[in-house]
This record gives sequence, C-alpha cells and structure tokens, in this order.
Amino acid sequence: MESYKVLVTRKLPGPWIDSLKEIAEVEVWDGSESPPRTWIMSRIKDKDGVLVTLSERIDKEIIDVSSKLKVISTYSVGFDHIDVHYAKSKGIKVTYTPEVLTDATADLIFGLIITVARRIVEGDNLIRSGKWNVPWNPEFMLGKEVSHSVLGIIGMGRIGRAVLKRAKGFDMNAIYYSRRPHDVEAKFVDLDTLLANSDFVVITVDLNSETYHFIDYAKISKMKRTAFIINASRGAVIKQDDLVRALSEGKIAGAALDVFEQEPLPQTNPLTKFPNVVLTPHLGSATRETREKMAMIAVTNLVKCLKGESPLYEVK
Ligand code: DGY
Repeated sequence: MESYKVLVTRKLPGPWIDSLKEIAEVEVWDGSESPPRTWIMSRIKDKDGVLVTLSERIDKEIIDVSSKLKVISTYSVGFDHIDVHYAKSKGIKVTYTPEVLTDATADLIFGLIITVARRIVEGDNLIRSGKWNVPWNPEFMLGKEVSHSVLGIIGMGRIGRAVLKRAKGFDMNAIYYSRRPHDVEAKFVDLDTLLANSDFVVITVDLNSETYHFIDYAKISKMKRTAFIINASRGAVIKQDDLVRALSEGKIAGAALDVFEQEPLPQTNPLTKFPNVVLTPHLGSATRETREKMAMIAVTNLVKCLKGESPLYEVK
C-alpha cells in the first residue's frame, strides 16, 4: 500500500471510499452531518489529501494546518466554500465534480418551475389539511402556464444549457443573460431585458465575489408582477431579505428555491410563510445515480492528484 493519508468528511454513496482505502490510509467522519471544524483541524495535519463536501468551509486557517496537503477534492460542482486562491498559492490542487450532476440539477429546476407555476404544493397542502371543500370549478387555483411562456436564464454554463434543453420540450421562448454570448438556441439579452420580459427567471450562475447578492430588491422590482424566480445555484446569489421584501410587496408572483443564504433554512424564516414560495432543502444533485457518480469523480480526482497525475476536473 502507498503511504498516502486521506481525510474524508462524510460517508459517500457507492463503493468508492472502500476503493480509496486500497491505496491510502483513510480517515472518514462517521456522522451524517458535517464534522466539527475542530475535528477537521485536528485530523488534517498529517494528511496528503482531503475530500470534503460543500458544507465544510475550507479556508486559510484550515489549509495552513497541514504542511503536506496536495489536494482538496470537493464532492460538489460549487467551490465557493473553499479558498481556492489561497490553496493554489500553496501548490494545493482543488478538484470538483461538474457534469455528472447537470441533468439532475436541471431536472430539479424544471420541477421547481412547474411546481411553483402550477401551485402543486399549495394543492397538496389544501387536500392534506382537509380544506378542499369545493368541487371542480373554472376559477379554482389557477396558475401560470409553463408551456409557451418566456424563460429567462441567468448564466449559460452546463446547467443553463441543460435547462434550455428542457425548455425546448415545453415550447418555451428562451432568453438568457451571461457574461458573453454562447452558441445556443436562445436569445442573448441584457439583464434588464431579461428581467422585464421573463415569466420565469432561473439563476444558474456560480457564487463568487461578482455574483454575491447579484439579485437584489432593485433587480427583482424590474421583473413582471406575474413572474417567478427560481434558484438552485447558491442562496447568496439572491439577497434573501430583499426577496422577502419583494414577495411581501407583491413585486413578483412567487419563487422556488432550493438554496438559501443559511442552510438549513430555519422554519422561522419569513420565506416559509408565503404560499407562493416553494422550498426544497438543497436537492439539486440529490439522486442516487448522481451522488454515486459524484463520489466516483471526487475519489478519482483525489487519487490522481495524490499520484501526481492530472485530475478529471480541476478548479482553474
Ligand atoms: C453542488 O454540487 O455544488 C450542488 O450544489 C449540490 O447539489
């Protein structure tokens, strides 16, 4: 056996951690939630590699604890929880798991669009609470039609494209805003045009210093009052308090959110009070198939870096 030492902050689906154990001495946090920061600090000291999830903040303080660290492999497509710049300055590679979760995330986004537009959760709640008292009637619980509506995609990376592909099946008229135009079958527009014209505004950008609180009250106010906002990227791309204010003032018709500024979102958060807001607990990549593929990629990235080879996906 090689002499690599690896820290893994969570048990992962599939056989991949066992295969990692064949080439490295592996220490795995046994809990289902994130390990305490002190646990990571105390264990990372002598490790060559660490495999983390998006719930662990890997900052300068943690990186500095280990003098041997060669690779930080994150089990996620997002890497905003890692100080990538600092890691790289110390010659540590940062790897991630894009592509394999694109379809699962785009599926969820479409589920959110349909759920909020067609009031599926509201309807379900109505029945379960014994309040469905009126038989079918022409004006009952009308929602917004998804087919043929205008979809505005912010960001046109892998997930943006996968959302666009699904939108075609719904005959949606897609427009998008991105840093630069892409070769896709949708119209490239400026942000104000997107906000003013979309029935559904879908956020697919990464969280970084440019996109932090990118969507604020002023921008939401530019949307149609009949429009919905959907976010399954990172919570902090939307200034959450501003969204609450906009919803309270009826500036938009509703929202569907899979990600939040604070996760888990407390039950007391005002967002939980709006019937026209659909909330899911960060489920973008949460299918068994996808999570197993993510584990395979995260472990492969880690092993390749330990062996001095190029990983499958490195954060550049
Ligand atoms: C990621 O991998 O960054 C996703 O948010 C997980 O769902």
